[in-house]
Amino acid sequence: MKESNPITEPIGQNLIKLIGNVCFSVFVFSVLIFTVIAITYQPPDPWLESAPALTKLFTQSENATFQNDNSILKTGEDFPLVHALAPERMPITEAVIKETEEKIATTTPESRSGCDELQDVVNCSDPRVLIAVEKFNLRVFKSIVFLEYQTTVNGSKPDECDMAWRFRNKKEKSWRKYRDFRRFKFGIGENCTYKVVQAGAWHSGVNARRPRSRISNGMRRGGGNNAKIAPPPMRDEEINDTIPSLGLMNFNKGRYLYYSRGGDYCKGMNHHLWSFLCGLGEAMYLNRTFVMDLSICLAATYNPSNKDEEGKDFRYYFDFEHLKEVASIVEEGEFLGGWKKWDRSHKRKVPTRKVVSYKVTPMQLKKDKSTIVWRQFDAPEPENYWYRVCEGQAAKYIQRPWHALWKSKRLMNIVSEISGRMDWDFDTVHVVRGEKAQNKELWPHLDSDTSPDRLLEKLKVMVQPWRKLYIATNEPFYNYFDKLRSQYKVHLLDDFNELWGNTSEWYNETMLLNNGRPVEFDGYMRVAVDTEVLYRGKTRVETFYNLTTDCKDGINTC
Ligand SMILES: *[C@@H]1O[C@H](CO)[C@@H](O)[C@H](O)[C@H]1NC(C)=O
Ligand SMILES: *[C@@H]1O[C@H](CO)[C@@H](O)[C@H](O)[C@H]1NC(C)=O
Ligand SMILES: *[C@@H]1O[C@H](CO)[C@@H](O)[C@H](O)[C@H]1NC(C)=O
Ligand SMILES: *[C@@H]1O[C@H](CO)[C@@H](O)[C@H](O)[C@H]1NC(C)=O
Ligand SMILES: *[C@@H]1O[C@H](CO)[C@@H](O)[C@H](O)[C@H]1NC(C)=O
Ligand SMILES: *[C@@H]1O[C@H](CO)[C@@H](O)[C@H](O)[C@H]1NC(C)=O
Ligand SMILES: *[C@@H]1O[C@H](CO)[C@@H](O)[C@H](O)[C@H]1NC(C)=O
Ligand SMILES: *[C@@H]1O[C@H](CO)[C@@H](O)[C@H](O)[C@H]1NC(C)=O
Ligand SMILES: *[C@@H]1O[C@H](CO)[C@@H](O)[C@H](O)[C@H]1NC(C)=O
Repeated sequence: MKESNPITEPIGQNLIKLIGNVCFSVFVFSVLIFTVIAITYQPPDPWLESAPALTKLFTQSENATFQNDNSILKTGEDFPLVHALAPERMPITEAVIKETEEKIATTTPESRSGCDELQDVVNCSDPRVLIAVEKFNLRVFKSIVFLEYQTTVNGSKPDECDMAWRFRNKKEKSWRKYRDFRRFKFGIGENCTYKVVQAGAWHSGVNARRPRSRISNGMRRGGGNNAKIAPPPMRDEEINDTIPSLGLMNFNKGRYLYYSRGGDYCKGMNHHLWSFLCGLGEAMYLNRTFVMDLSICLAATYNPSNKDEEGKDFRYYFDFEHLKEVASIVEEGEFLGGWKKWDRSHKRKVPTRKVVSYKVTPMQLKKDKSTIVWRQFDAPEPENYWYRVCEGQAAKYIQRPWHALWKSKRLMNIVSEISGRMDWDFDTVHVVRGEKAQNKELWPHLDSDTSPDRLLEKLKVMVQPWRKLYIATNEPFYNYFDKLRSQYKVHLLDDFNELWGNTSEWYNETMLLNNGRPVEFDGYMRVAVDTEVLYRGKTRVETFYNLTTDCKDGINTC
């Protein structure tokens, strides 16, 4: 069992509140988000004939309060068609492999009678090595689409090679690609072909992690003669979320929309996003660059400390690289620095239009030519929420750009790793307990329906015995599910805690974003990862509908 360490317990307590509140606001949100996307993108789907009705719901729900927002919003990559770019590459299928195999067979001389040349030392550049791995991967990781194999280099022993490739998960609707690199050990298979006899874990092929150009430069294991080139910090080369710098020279050429901090600060994450996307949507509508404060203050419910915490970087949670690509944004510090410098070095100050009330609509600002449009939010709550700008008439003009928001790739890497460790072949069950289970008025049966005995009884019908079963839950007591271990190989999020522990890649990478200080894996991140793993299960059992007849949002709501 877990020793009760000082960190997990408060998290547990918070988790009660956290996942527990998969509440009305979430329902509203799901509908809203879908509606926004439906309205914005108009995919050719007959279902969307009902768009006007949804629009109505959308506008009516604007007053939605954000008290119960401790759950995870769907983000851009969860929606199909939104950014349905054609896949850049053909996935590597059996047919593709066969084709390559045939090509090799015809181009290599028929001197392969014996297996001698394959003994002991594996030539990692041999295309047959690649084929062996491609076949192995296809066989083992059925829910993965392999898009491109990038690098094959020597491993640490003569019979090993490290390989890197890009993939995407079939469960994810977007075409976002992830990268994995693993170490493989080879043996000789039938007919003198290579055979994978052992495959390393997620990101084990460290020699293949660097981009190809580096490798061909002689950056090899054990250093080399390139002593002058310091090895770059260990990080995922796939993630480029550096803050773009704003040249002073260019400052006055831009047109900016600046929202100064309002009442949204230190609210829940969903409130934050609802507001942020309103501002970004307005900036897009006005064709301006949005000034973005990357520093988030996260409400107490997500934090093990149980206090509001400032200085949480947007990039811990969301994909800043993607945001930079699809939206025009400038980081607040860069912007303010540029502004100050400009004012100091020029006689004419930067033309700035101050807007003190959200009641000034985006439409009224459309014609404004000022370099900076500065919205201030100094009114008392709730007049000082950013999202109020998008209420009323403005809702007809401003669309929240949900497609700009993807979950952080670093978090998703953890999701991939957890799924990978369960060989992408597992079933999941979502067990909502926490506050809801305690609230007998609104959820009269939830507590007993999710008791260990009832769980086992119900799951037996839906999940085959001895399957790997991942339990996504807000139940803080780790051993609560022990009873299920008599029938299933049970996995819980905490079983994977080294993935964000102080020896993890995640830890190293987030620390770089935080000026070298460690970043805490907070409640929001936990729920985000838990939820995503849940979605990747082959059979997914939900609390509401599958385990209990209680309604998700309380009695008589379904
Ligand atoms: C929003 O709330 C206000 C006051 O609470 C109410 O008068 C108004 O009708 C609501 N708007 C919508 C669209 O429901
Ligand atoms: C390894 O294989 C590549 C491609 O087939 C070939 O060009 C190279 O000469 C081989 N190297 C060794 C040491 O056999
Ligand atoms: C890989 O290993 C083989 C055999 O051990 C060696 O001949 C080759 O030079 C190595 N290649 C690189 C790029 O280090
Ligand atoms: C090995 O070769 C034989 C005869 O050519 C063939 O029947 C068999 O399928 C081959 N095995 C593999 C694993 O390719
Ligand atoms: C990262 O992205 C920025 C633009 O946002 C670009 O200027 C920079 O060159 C990129 N860095 C790398 C290493 O790709
Ligand atoms: C948006 O602004 C850019 C420069 O700020 C300008 O080049 C472009 O034409 C504008 N587009 C529209 C549709 O106004
Ligand atoms: C990581 O955490 C463990 C336990 O909390 C501690 O003993 C160890 O010294 C830490 N290691 C590093 C590199 O910080
Ligand atoms: C994290 O960084 C430390 C120190 O730079 C390094 O020793 C370790 O290998 C890194 N861990 C991972 C998983 O990248
Ligand atoms: C859970 O309930 C839904 C809705 O009734 C149903 O479609 C689904 O098949 C159920 N899941 C399982 C694993 O039985």
